[in-house]
Amino acid sequence: MSLRVGDKPAIGAYAIDFWSMVRRIRAIERCVSQRDPILFVGDDDLASLALHFLGYKNLTVLDLDVELLAVIERASGGRVRSLEHDLRSVYRGRLPKVARDHALFVSDPPYGPDGLRAFCGVGMAALGVGGHGLLACPVERAPVTRVGDPDELAALLQAFVLESGGVLLGVHERAARSYHGTVSNFWVIKKLTRRRPRFDLLKGPHAFY
Ligand SMILES: C[S@@+](CC[C@H](N)C(=O)[O-])C[C@H]1O[C@@H](n2cnc3c(N)ncnc32)[C@H](O)[C@@H]1O
Repeated sequence: MSLRVGDKPAIGAYAIDFWSMVRRIRAIERCVSQRDPILFVGDDDLASLALHFLGYKNLTVLDLDVELLAVIERASGGRVRSLEHDLRSVYRGRLPKVARDHALFVSDPPYGPDGLRAFCGVGMAALGVGGHGLLACPVERAPVTRVGDPDELAALLQAFVLESGGVLLGVHERAARSYHGTVSNFWVIKKLTRRRPRFDLLKGPHAFY
């Protein structure tokens, strides 16, 4: 399987270092069993494939990158479900057609204020009450990127989670580094109510990436 690395292509990066993946899998193991339904809201780290090879049985990946989805489908022999969807559809009030009983969503979203919240909201909408989310949120930006102030992004995201019926349980510190050097914490979120995510708080497509 070819892995896109280094100079980042237009969409997915296909690159994660070994220890970041180990930490991510350990975080996932603490939230779910191998039979629980897990949704990946974007998956250019190919964590879904890692879990598939570890024996996880109920995995779905949602992404707009058809090449990424083809790699995952091929490598898993079709056993990881894939769904092509552009999440900017939330601006038109459209959510992807996925079950609402996932035990966990996992996402390293675009780091625009709306990308973070849209990916988080779609993940939360797909959870059953009591389900968990693992979501990357920047803590240290690389100067060459357009990524905004990490404290402001974290404050927006936390308000969104609370308003959408969830709670922030904790963070795995410095659990991800993007191709452009931005370092992220992985937030652990728990869904407490059936409330609909507050997509009305989003600013507009200019704030997605
Ligand atoms: C946003 S990217 C990686 C972001 C990471 N935080 C970074 O800055 O390097 C994560 C995944 O989201 C997918 N993605 C990007 N925009 C999307 C959109 N509008 N709808 C659905 N998936 C999207 C990409 O294809 C990729 O697989």
